[in-house]
Amino acid sequence: MTADTIFETDTAPSAADLAFFVDQKPALATFLDDALTGLSAEPKQIAPKYFYDERGSELFDQICQTPEYYPTRTELGLLDRHGADIAAAVGPDCLVVEYGAGSSLKIRRLLGALDAPAGYVAVDISRDYLRAQMSGLARDLPSVPVGAICADFTKGFDLPPESAALGSRRLGFLPGSTIGNFTPDDAQALLARSTKLLGKGGLFLIGVDLKKSKQILDAAYDDGQGVTAAFNLNLLKRMRTELGAELDEHGFEHVAFYNREQGRVEMHLEAKGEQTISLEGQDFTFSDGERIHTESSYKYAPEEFAEMAQRAGFEPKALWTDPDGLFSLHLLEVAVNA
Ligand code: AVJ
Repeated sequence: MTADTIFETDTAPSAADLAFFVDQKPALATFLDDALTGLSAEPKQIAPKYFYDERGSELFDQICQTPEYYPTRTELGLLDRHGADIAAAVGPDCLVVEYGAGSSLKIRRLLGALDAPAGYVAVDISRDYLRAQMSGLARDLPSVPVGAICADFTKGFDLPPESAALGSRRLGFLPGSTIGNFTPDDAQALLARSTKLLGKGGLFLIGVDLKKSKQILDAAYDDGQGVTAAFNLNLLKRMRTELGAELDEHGFEHVAFYNREQGRVEMHLEAKGEQTISLEGQDFTFSDGERIHTESSYKYAPEEFAEMAQRAGFEPKALWTDPDGLFSLHLLEVAVNA
């Protein structure tokens, strides 16, 4: 994105509580283009960011409450248990910029723990969900100015001029192991890019899922209630309803497993029998058992992630993990020579 991007400030009544709401969201054509490209690829694939329409965001919130999906409650526990340490390491008056704000549960804990945060800016691709969550947050936290940017943070985004009033020292916040959705190369590139946005003295608090037993990981991504399956299959529904694709939603099933060699959990949609997805006049055929790769969720040992952060221009500043070794919180600081 260039410096002369034009920001449109949204003045809809429901955004009245926000310091600003800017829309940098790419046109819907991106989903269509990416679906066509991904279905033409070998193996077929679709990026996990397309899970998160309103229904997908709701399903993700439900995943976080299943007994098998440990990351959310473990990370919330870390924010609770180490809130004072985090506040001490971060210091007062920082502008918190969250990459990919879903439900506002974690940011509420962080803002509650920090020493006089100057403001909060949420960046998320799901426009209506973002607006609803942030309006609620702004009402509940009248002392913290809240801004929102609807954008695809995987493609980069700019802080609008309005954010300057909210403070200059920045703390990036990327919880939930969202960084795990990127390949290690892309994760490093995202970190490197973020040093520019966070600037001198800038900090980054990142939640990273740890490597662990296959048994725990397999269960976390294939819960017994089938919520994760519904979340994965929602992609097909989106293709049907938003892109006009012709397909049989019941002709595919959810498959998820830890790939230890790659250090990642993989999710796929697997064809039951031969299937066809028709999109924009093109037929994409599936043989029995053929898959669409819909998500990779990379897991990192603490030193593995710290080394990657250093290569991206950060100095590791602090690390918090839970006693069971399930999840980690890394605090990074933009290196002086970055
Ligand atoms: C939000 C990307 C971190 O990879 O664990 C949860 C998404 N997918 N269950 C993850 C997800 C299936 C989640 N992230």
